[in-house]
Amino acid sequence: MAPQDPPSTTGSGYRVNALTKDSLKAAQRVGMLSDQIVINGGKPLKGTIEVRGAKNLVTKAMVAALLGETPSVLRGVPDISDVQVVRGLLEVYGVGVTSPTPGELHFDTSNVEKAHFAEIDAHAGASRIPILFCGPLLHRLGEARIPDLGGCRIGDRPIDFHLDALRAFGAVVDKSYEGIYITAPDGLKGTEIELPYPSVGATEQVILTAVRAKGTTELRNAAIEPEIMDLIAILQKMGAIISLEANRVILIEGVDRLEGYSHDALFDRNEVASWASAALATHGDIVVKGARQAEMMTFLNVYRKVGGKFDIQDDGIRFWHPGGELKPVTVETDVHPGFMTDWQQPLIVALTQAQGTSIVHETVYENRFGFTEALGVMGADIVVHTNGLPDHPRRVARRDFEQAAVITGPTPLHGAELYVPDLRGGFSHLIAALTAEGQSTISNMGIISRGYEHIIEKLAALGADFVYEG
Ligand code: EPU
Repeated sequence: MAPQDPPSTTGSGYRVNALTKDSLKAAQRVGMLSDQIVINGGKPLKGTIEVRGAKNLVTKAMVAALLGETPSVLRGVPDISDVQVVRGLLEVYGVGVTSPTPGELHFDTSNVEKAHFAEIDAHAGASRIPILFCGPLLHRLGEARIPDLGGCRIGDRPIDFHLDALRAFGAVVDKSYEGIYITAPDGLKGTEIELPYPSVGATEQVILTAVRAKGTTELRNAAIEPEIMDLIAILQKMGAIISLEANRVILIEGVDRLEGYSHDALFDRNEVASWASAALATHGDIVVKGARQAEMMTFLNVYRKVGGKFDIQDDGIRFWHPGGELKPVTVETDVHPGFMTDWQQPLIVALTQAQGTSIVHETVYENRFGFTEALGVMGADIVVHTNGLPDHPRRVARRDFEQAAVITGPTPLHGAELYVPDLRGGFSHLIAALTAEGQSTISNMGIISRGYEHIIEKLAALGADFVYEG
């Protein structure tokens, strides 16, 4: 179902203040949804919404278009501010970007040109995507300039794997007060790289650089997330030769030329998990159109263990709370095919309503439980162990800096004043406010528009009771 126009008057189910679809879209386009929402919680979310392409694929697919000598077309593009950031950056480099219909972007790369630090910086926003421009820019222009990177504050989020990989291809990396300046005086040559950790971004960096490097690249300990597989599918359409071998090895044979592509983006797994958790936490029933089972299996297993119900449909997945008690679980976040780090924040809100003690080990990022503090203020019983729980039996290998959250429920939640700390943590605050009895005010909503399309319209379509001041 397409998101609906929000109503302009006070109705029985929900209220939306002075907001039209166009004004909301305009605000989202320029990343200005930095306002607040007042939520009257305690009502189940029920209805149908639709997810489109994954933020963590679409933004990379847009960068890949730079590698094509001919135009590319990407469909299923969500209306989120991270897409606008990458669009702005592509335009800085002379790429013509048009959107003939909503959700579809066309890229014309016939006039790619160099850009200055100041221009790049002005468009980079709070995104980490600029680092992925390195390989394509080195191939197209012989240089890449990367400003200081943003992204959610969920740990140090260094770029050492990226820079080490680029050096292995023969790139020269110079750091200055403006950012990083990268050149490849002798061209980029295929190489062997073993990542210290299966980093999503570093894997994409290597692939986007290797496809047009001279010779073959062997990448070991690669990330193999579905979004990476979809990026590889796009590059194969463009003319690349990439094979996924056993044991996280990816082989890339460099080619001289890549064409444009035409592609339907993989759906957003993180958004699906977010709405599924919202259904569970609020005793709701949500059909998420566009969701597919194959890429959600790990999440669905945990959802079932907690006591959530789901039904796989032809064009989506229905998620609901069947009534009765929810059960506690132990979850370890991990790289694919493990339980994604981006799924734990919304799930934890549902776990505050489960009967007993749940444990979530966060092994991907060193600091991704900051959002639980606000849940504690709302009445949740969550203890964060900043050095993890070393003696606890587990499947995923322990990492030096991991943390663990112990959630004991069920605890009624009550309304509170909340401030969105980061994208996924912010969505969990939203779910918590919808679950809580009473009124909550959430500010800094703009962060959520980085990754959740039409959030206000979707809340309205699901019958949430809120006042949004746009
Ligand atoms: N790491 C390093 N050095 C590096 C790169 C990564 O130490 O050079 C570490 C990170 O600090 C982290 C771990 O490796 O501890 C994994 O990071 P990864 O590189 O895999 O993450 P990313 O590519 O920066 C993407 C998504 C994240 C998602 C992670 C894990 C994008 C734009 N972001 O980040 O999504 O959590 O993979 O799946 O694709 C989100 O959508 O909210 C989000 C944060």
